[in-house]
Amino acid sequence: MGIAYYPEKRLFVLTSGNCTYALMVHPLYERLVHLYYGASLDGEEAAKIFACDDTPRAQSPLPEGATPVSGSLGNLAQEFSSFGCGDFRAASARIRTADGFDATDAKYVSHRIYSGKPALPGLPSSFAGNSEAQTLEITLCDPVIQVEFILSYSIFSGLPAVVRSVRAVNRGERAVTVERLASLTLDFPAEPFDVISFHGAWVRERHFERAAAGHGIRCLGSNRGLSGHQTNPFFILCDPDAGETHGRAWGQMLVYSGCHLAEIERDQYETVRVQFGLNPERFRWRLEPGESFQAPEAITAFSDSGFDELSRTFHDFLRDHVIDPKWAHRPRPAVINNWEATRFNFTEEQILAFAKRAAELGLDMFVLDDGWFGKRDDGTSSLGDWVVYDKKLPSGLPALSEKIHALGLKFGLWFEPEMVSPDSDLYRAHPDWCLHIPGRPSSLGRHQLVLDMGRPEVVEYLFRQMTAILDAARIEYVKWDANRPITEAGSALLPPERQGEAEHRFVLGTYALLEKLRRRYPEMLFEGCTSGGGRFDAGMLYYTPQIWTSDDTDAIERLYIQYGTSFGYPQSTMGAHVSAVPNHHAGRVTPLTTRGDVAMTGAFGYELDPGSFSPEDDEVVKRQLADFRATQQLLLDGFLVRLGSPHTDNLCAWMTVARDRGEFVFTAVRIMALPNPKLERVRLRGLDPDAVYADAESGETFSGRFLMQAGLPIPVAKGDFKSFRRHFRRRG
Ligand code: DGJ
Repeated sequence: MGIAYYPEKRLFVLTSGNCTYALMVHPLYERLVHLYYGASLDGEEAAKIFACDDTPRAQSPLPEGATPVSGSLGNLAQEFSSFGCGDFRAASARIRTADGFDATDAKYVSHRIYSGKPALPGLPSSFAGNSEAQTLEITLCDPVIQVEFILSYSIFSGLPAVVRSVRAVNRGERAVTVERLASLTLDFPAEPFDVISFHGAWVRERHFERAAAGHGIRCLGSNRGLSGHQTNPFFILCDPDAGETHGRAWGQMLVYSGCHLAEIERDQYETVRVQFGLNPERFRWRLEPGESFQAPEAITAFSDSGFDELSRTFHDFLRDHVIDPKWAHRPRPAVINNWEATRFNFTEEQILAFAKRAAELGLDMFVLDDGWFGKRDDGTSSLGDWVVYDKKLPSGLPALSEKIHALGLKFGLWFEPEMVSPDSDLYRAHPDWCLHIPGRPSSLGRHQLVLDMGRPEVVEYLFRQMTAILDAARIEYVKWDANRPITEAGSALLPPERQGEAEHRFVLGTYALLEKLRRRYPEMLFEGCTSGGGRFDAGMLYYTPQIWTSDDTDAIERLYIQYGTSFGYPQSTMGAHVSAVPNHHAGRVTPLTTRGDVAMTGAFGYELDPGSFSPEDDEVVKRQLADFRATQQLLLDGFLVRLGSPHTDNLCAWMTVARDRGEFVFTAVRIMALPNPKLERVRLRGLDPDAVYADAESGETFSGRFLMQAGLPIPVAKGDFKSFRRHFRRRG
């Protein structure tokens, strides 16, 4: 790992893992040009890539200082592209001056290289010790509008990844408005590429989609105030023939939980530009003289051997540099959550009965979901009133928690802090504390409004209310929900010229509250949730080491959701529960073993009435808990190998392998049973060919070579939706 600077060429070369990233200062134009991002190259040789497009091009204006052979800015690969000054592709920044002009064009000023990786104030950001990371900071300035842009590039020991961010500083004497500030700009050469993105909706999040990067701009984003169910802030650009084990792939992930936008643009000369960051449609930020604005950071990672490797880099990066180190590799409790079984209708007796059965089965924690506060009997009231609903829980939360602890279980509690019900004491006292636009009716989502988290007093109020609950009762886990997107995003606190800041301030306020709570309760496990997986992003993972992956717990739908999610996010971050069948969404009946096997590859638990189990089910559940415990550390520390896709394979398989390849767990689900079926074998990957692996249950042995070359035989089974799970350990 290292960042080299070659002063005579003003060339920067970042080398990390097996990847090189190179850029330089344009010798005539002083703009920062991009040279190369891919498999390792000799540092200085990267400069040979710099070639001005000296073919005379029509319709290509030239900047000041250009010679007939020095090329147009509109055709050069750039690190931070201009707006309105001759580069017609998507811009990195657009700043509007007090006079109303918006041309933005920044030139190189200086740089510095240092050890370590700085945190970003107020934002979640990656971290590393000084010996583990190096950072290059390049200062650019647009001398006309006197705005400085500080570009930051960090690399991390052993990981083929670069973390990028940018800060804008107003060095002028009049206010300016930031209208666009991308965290990451990447210019790729004129080659064919595919784009892989993860689209979805509520109860079917992050489905894999692949398409050629065609001409024009493909936009992947969210304008919902939250990162959203619809388009995850993670995507991959890859060779058209790239697969799990071969081909080049570049993954981009934003460490942010609000509106985002990725623009992937193939231009007239076939080059491909990527801009990724805050969604300019939903963002404005005013900068008074001397003020600065920090854009969130983006992670970009490279693999020259396909998606397996790329996913591994993202998983390692998130576990080692984003997720709270206390939790990243720490076993998580097997929980029972009451939501799917009871919705809002529960009593204290019923909760205790659930907990008693859960304790008998051997679970670790009871999580009390929505409905325990205010006067909450359905979705129409009480959000914002975080005091116990004594009609439902007459003994109060401290006593309930003690009773649950006495059964041998820990206790977790649901909150939806960022929201308010119009029918709540909070709303009656402070109607202006929700995001709204005076004179315009506010749209309700699930009967609720969104709090103006950008107001410090709102954050303070929520902190007081939540700590009153969390201090009084023994609570080890908080499920943090948010059940609607943002509309009518006006803030009563902000002056007219700052209204465009409301949505980003909302995100910053949410982060501030999470940070305050995390500091106050360092041992608390926070689980993120946004109507299921509506905010599954690296920003939330910084505060909540696991996220409820989807409200759809149907095992077959989960194959698609967990498959897509796994491209960017570690399995250990995916909340996954066994629920009753048919569930509320898919209406499908799947075996309890399959539900367990699919859920067991995430942060595991149950979400049903444990009293409904038959004696046979009880035995299956006890067995599942034992299997989960035997393999949980593997899941937390090991690496994932995808062995098929539910989109193309009836037998969908995957495995998690220990770093030392000393053990692995293999899971396969045959979606539909086939009459008179073929005999199936799955060729495994990632094992030690010379090791002998023994099935932890049957003792049957196979060499790693056999499993990878001949394959693991999958027994024929009757009935749809059958799973097959095996845990193998190296013998001797
Ligand atoms: C949406 C979540 O995804 C569910 O798990 C549950 O907590 C409900 N909200 C409660 O309202």
